[in-house]
This record gives sequence, C-alpha cells and structure tokens, in this order.
Amino acid sequence: MKKTWKVALIGCGSIAGMIYIPQMKNIPNAELVAVCDIIPERAQEYAEHFKVPAWYSSIDELLEKCDFDILMDTASIPAHHEINMKAIKAGKHLYSQKPVGQTVEQVTEQIEAAEAAGVKFAASPIHPLRPDIMFVRDMIEDGTIGKITMVRAHTAHGGPEHFQYRTADPSWFFEPGAGALYDMGVHGLTMAVATVGPAKEVACTAVISQPERTVRTGTFDGKKIKADMLPDNYIITLNWGDGCIGVVDAGFSEIASTTNMLEIYGTKGTLTIMGQVKIGEGDGVRMFLDSPELKVRGWLDPMSQDRPPRKEFEQCEALTDVINAIENDTMPILDPKIARHVVDIMCTIPKAAEEKRTLPLSTTF
Ligand SMILES: NC(=O)c1ccc[n+]([C@@H]2O[C@H](COP(=O)([O-])OP(=O)(O)OC[C@H]3O[C@@H](n4cnc5c(N)ncnc54)[C@H](O)[C@@H]3O)[C@@H](O)[C@H]2O)c1
Repeated sequence: MKKTWKVALIGCGSIAGMIYIPQMKNIPNAELVAVCDIIPERAQEYAEHFKVPAWYSSIDELLEKCDFDILMDTASIPAHHEINMKAIKAGKHLYSQKPVGQTVEQVTEQIEAAEAAGVKFAASPIHPLRPDIMFVRDMIEDGTIGKITMVRAHTAHGGPEHFQYRTADPSWFFEPGAGALYDMGVHGLTMAVATVGPAKEVACTAVISQPERTVRTGTFDGKKIKADMLPDNYIITLNWGDGCIGVVDAGFSEIASTTNMLEIYGTKGTLTIMGQVKIGEGDGVRMFLDSPELKVRGWLDPMSQDRPPRKEFEQCEALTDVINAIENDTMPILDPKIARHVVDIMCTIPKAAEEKRTLPLSTTF
C-alpha cells in the first residue's frame, strides 16, 4: 500500500487558508496532521475551521511534539529562513513559500543543510512546476522560436492591502525584509529565468509611488499603513549575454492591467503566456511563428489539441513535487537553486538601483 505522508503547515495566513489547506484535500497521499502559527489564536482557529487534529504556536513546539514528514512553510516572508533551517535540521522534508531566504548565503545554507540531512527541499514560487511554463521552456530549448533576444515579464498588482481580502494585518508587506520586490518581483524574475535560464547581469529603476496606503477590505479595512521604507514600483532589466536581454516590471502600484504576464521574443517568433500573474497557470500559451520553410507567418495556438485534458493547475501540486522527489529519490522540480538565483537577483537590485548601474550576478542553476 502507498504511504500517506504526514504534513504540518506553519503560517496560518491568507495563502494557507485560501489555497494550501483547501487544496491539500485533493492530494490522496498527503494528510494534514497539524497547523502552527506564532499567533496561537490563528493556529487554533485554523485547526478548528479546517478540522486539523493538532495545533501549535511555534516551530520549536511543532518539531518537539508532532510526528510528521513534510513541513509546508506559509509564514510571513521574514520568518522563512529560521523556520526552514530548524525543520531541515530536524530531518523534515520541506516546501517553503517564497522567498525561502533573504540572502544567497541563507538559501545556500538551507540547500546544503537539506543535502546533509538527506531531506527533499522544494522552493516557491511554483512557476517552474506550471505546465504552461514547462511548455514554453521546452519550446525555447527546442529552438522553435529561434535564438532568444528579449524577455518581458509583468508582475504587479495594486498592493496586498488592496487586491485581496485578508484577516491578517498586511502592514508587514511594506517593512524591510518584505516589500514589493520580494512579494511580486520574485514572480516575474522566476518566470523569466525558469524559461530562459540563469541571467548574467541586472540593473533597476525603483521608486516609492504610494508612501501611505489604506487597507481596502478585510479585518483591517480602513487601516492606514506607512509604506515609505521600500520601493513599491520596479523596472528591472536583465542581461543573459549573447544578445538576449529582458525587462520585468513589478510592484504594488498597478491597480489593473491588460499586459500579459510573460512574453519571449526570438529570431523566428514570439511566445506569450496570456493573462495576469495569478496563483496558478496563465490563460494559455500563444505563439507567433515566422517560418518561410513552413509557409507560416502568424499567431498559433501551439499543440492546444494535443495536450491531454487535465484539471486546473493547483499551487498545492508543490506538495506532490516534494512527495514525488521523496518516493523516487530525485530533485524536486521546484529546485531551490532556481530560487537562490532569483534571491541573488533581488539582493543585487537595491545596489544596482542606488548606484544606477548594471551589476553582475554570482549564481547559476
Ligand atoms: N497572499 C498571497 O496571495 C500569496 C501568494 C503567493 C505567495 N505568498 C507568500 O505566502 C507567504 C504568506 O503570505 P500571506 O499572504 O499568507 O501572509 P499572511 O500575513 O496572511 O500570513 C502569514 C502568517 O504567518 C504567521 N507567522 C509569521 N511569523 C511566524 C513564525 N515565525 N512562526 C509561525 N507563524 C508565523 C503570521 O502570524 C500569519 O498568520 C509569504 O511568503 C508570501 O510571500 C502569498
């Protein structure tokens, strides 16, 4: 009989309540055995609401008292590194929300600790696991649109206080250690490097467009937030070398947009993932092909008839990625080295923006 993997979740916030806990029910070989939050009432409330057998109020208590196999870390951004290191050292397999650490050194520490402990470690964002991203990456690798010349990624919304109903106070999103780059830029950067590969250089223009914000809905509706500590509006440029460059716009300053989330230009065509960045897949892949050999010059729906029908992609497939890696002793598709390269880019951006120059990147995958 196939093993059922025991999962504990830490960080009982928006994404856990809206996405991960409800979706976990669709994974037949995973069972949520405990939830944990630094605010005990939140942990207790989630345990009662989602009928989870146990709840705890710290990672230490969770590791000491609970028997489980895989930790799902959906806590606030600044908490990830400490939580992840403790879980890995305790021999737990791990899926962590993004960014898994705040410096290249932190992510390297987590990767090396996971290797030493013999545990599987999958890192968000989930984009490398998305079927549309994998499809685009394969088409690029096959040379279908020729040599890649330019990448354009778009990942912005109106701000966490604006675009989503929340029961937790969103103020932390605007404080050092979090911010629009770590919350939104991370998506565009991950989509760009997951499809085209590791970049070599980065430059950036970043500004604070809205230094004061007002929570738009939810438990903290009407609360004023001081948002003058970090930029909320970024134009990031990347250079892959060999004549390939890219631009990622990211931030909390676009209430609505019609720009597609990802567009990749090559010498023989263009690949587009349509729709706004969201938790899950885009609205389909389109391709422009300029092929005199095939007598084709126009937009196509690549292979749309040939792909097997599948249920909509769910973020919680990240958990299946960890389970597959454990059962087959392989690397998760959500390889933390991709996440580390994105952290490298995000850590280099503030210096590049301040010094108004292009800076080299030190990591690859
Ligand atoms: N909200 C989204 O749509 C979304 C989308 C993609 C990724 N994420 C990521 O998910 C993570 C959580 O985001 P969110 O929007 O759910 O935030 P949130 O503020 O709603 O929830 C975070 C929860 O973590 C808890 N927490 C903080 N520090 C902790 C600690 N040390 N130990 C235990 N619990 C702790 C908080 O009390 C809170 O309940 C972040 O990494 C974020 O980048 C969120």
